[in-house]
Amino acid sequence: MDKQKPAVFLDRDGTLIEDVGVLRHPGQIRLFPDTIEALRLLDKNYLLFVISNQPGISRKQVTCRQVTGLNLALDDILRKNNIRIQKWFVYPHVRTEECRCIKPNPFFLQQAAAEYGIDLAHSFMIGDHPHDVYTGDPVGVFGLYLLTGHGIRHIDDLSSEKLVFHSIGHAAAWITKHPRHKEDLEESLRNGAAIVKNGGLVAFPTETVYGLGADASNPQAVARIYEAKGRPLHNPLIVHISDIEQLESLVDDIPLTARSLIDLFWPGPLTLVFRKKRCVPDIVTAGHPTVAVRMPIHPLAAKLIRLSETPIAAPSANIFGRTSATSASHVLEQLHNACDILIDGGACRIGLESTVVSVVDRKLALLRPGSLSIEELEMAAGTDIFTGAPVTDPDKMQSPGMLTSHYQTVTPLYITNDALYFSDRPDVGILLFENTHRAFAGPVRTLSPSGNLKEAAANLYTAMRSLDSLGLYAIVAELLPEKGLGFAINDRLRKASVKTHILHQTSRAAIPRGAEPQ
Ligand code: TXA
Ligand code: MG
Repeated sequence: MDKQKPAVFLDRDGTLIEDVGVLRHPGQIRLFPDTIEALRLLDKNYLLFVISNQPGISRKQVTCRQVTGLNLALDDILRKNNIRIQKWFVYPHVRTEECRCIKPNPFFLQQAAAEYGIDLAHSFMIGDHPHDVYTGDPVGVFGLYLLTGHGIRHIDDLSSEKLVFHSIGHAAAWITKHPRHKEDLEESLRNGAAIVKNGGLVAFPTETVYGLGADASNPQAVARIYEAKGRPLHNPLIVHISDIEQLESLVDDIPLTARSLIDLFWPGPLTLVFRKKRCVPDIVTAGHPTVAVRMPIHPLAAKLIRLSETPIAAPSANIFGRTSATSASHVLEQLHNACDILIDGGACRIGLESTVVSVVDRKLALLRPGSLSIEELEMAAGTDIFTGAPVTDPDKMQSPGMLTSHYQTVTPLYITNDALYFSDRPDVGILLFENTHRAFAGPVRTLSPSGNLKEAAANLYTAMRSLDSLGLYAIVAELLPEKGLGFAINDRLRKASVKTHILHQTSRAAIPRGAEPQ
């Protein structure tokens, strides 16, 4: 028998094409911008299959014929691009019919394996619903989750163990680099841990943003982080741990309020600032008597720390003051020569840094808004959290994260209350929260077309970097609703902006053509 070939199983709606509800006519097909390129790449080494749940058939919203017609039309588009889908599997039932072929049952994967002689252990499944990635689990097929389609909406139902990607293109690139998936990941984690133990620098994914890490107990190694980022020595680092014993090795006292926050939010995107033990090197804490600690939930971050057998000090993996990295390629853009190894874990599912809270005093203090909202934290702690105004003098502030300038794009970014002022400027990039159906001459990035704050957070840094790469004269951004995650996203936008306070009306005159922005 021929050598078995590996396969990639693909979901259809939200993965290859935009998910716009029940599709009936080929004219409704909208490919994602990177679908063709991604499939061409995968087609070189993998047999491709599409597995699509179409419960609309059972619900009589669409006929079997319409679904087949649509699949044929899509197949035709792909064939014209030299991409061959071996077979289109359609599941026509609703979940309550309990047919054995529904995702996450691997029925169609097994059928394809039997028919085509597939090496399932080296195969992949890509989709934008948790069921897509779980479908492969029982038969050893590795699942990749996409943040396109329904990805963001269902992300809370996705186990933290699963890797997520911004789009099909990123998933395809990752597969190409990790054909043995789990084995390849384990190898890069083992190499990463060896580098940490030897005083080197490792860029690694967390659920918030990528970190640039070194052994927190090794002052020389930590010094290299500051050097690589160009970070001033007065800005302390967060120490990342994988278990509570490591916290006890770093801090003397864990106050009761901290314990209740830890119980609820660790591992996760919450950083707590404690009084430090003497053994924590001064370079980690920038000479402060306190240390910031966080236990990430990202499986690769947690495993890297465990294998390194030491807490890892890590700031976000970007040049100091610049936009944070939420994918491996973002890290490479700014720090390609600076780290000894980059562990590629796809996209950061939250995409916004952790919330930093000081538990040093009786009154909890918010030092940096982040992906956990103050409302959630106050409810859990059962007490108010002090949110002071930002401080501009680095000597006076409790946390340099309160610096008013940070996360900056190279292209000057301005905040405006109405982007329409710039509608006729092709040289001005527009950063919007949601779809508002306004027309602009310049490039537009919308953080969440449907106005979902979680989606906006996950897309923020990618959108900022993408506008920044276009060589524009300026970027203008509208603020988001000032609640929950919107508060933290606005904090990043304000700090990234040229002005340190909101301009109620950044008018055209504020960005004159040809003049240097202030
Ligand atoms: O989500 C995150 O927190 C990411 C990932 C990699 O874990 N890390 C991150 O690190 O954003 P960095 O270095 O970019 O931001 C650390 C923040 C800064 O605002 C810093 O001033 C504050 O934590 N911080 C660190 N140590 C502190 C301390 N001892 N007291 C007060 N603030 C501290
Ligand atoms: Mg889908």
